[in-house]
Amino acid sequence: MQKIYNWDPRLETGNNTIDAQHKSMFAALNDFIAVKEQGKAVSEIQKTMEFLAQYIIQHFDDEEKLQEECGYPHILEHKNSHENLRNRLSNILKKLDGKNYDNKIVEQTIRLMADWLTYHIKGFDFNLAAYIRNKDSTK
Ligand SMILES: [Fe+2]
Repeated sequence: MQKIYNWDPRLETGNNTIDAQHKSMFAALNDFIAVKEQGKAVSEIQKTMEFLAQYIIQHFDDEEKLQEECGYPHILEHKNSHENLRNRLSNILKKLDGKNYDNKIVEQTIRLMADWLTYHIKGFDFNLAAYIRNKDSTK
């Protein structure tokens, strides 16, 4: 049984927009785990995984837009970090399409997403939220 990744309040950046999307991302990750654990059809598992990947990509786009709008000085590093997960997810999705479903890869992907997101949020997103907070307070 794969563990569920409950939302950890220590991951809150303090930016409401970013936090709301992060919570939805973890909810989508858990939906994906639930569908996999219930032994649903491969097409169903792939559908929830694609939904999660799309959600993550949309969230990255929104976060990058936010950084452009506020003139964030570390936008390049942050974008590179997003690009890293985007590339890994697109390679995994390519590998898993059609008949090539592999439960091991799916489980590794779940762990990758949970670990990667936790690491990224605690560093990159915390810094971004702090920058926005400081900027707003000096307005
Ligand atoms: Fe980010």
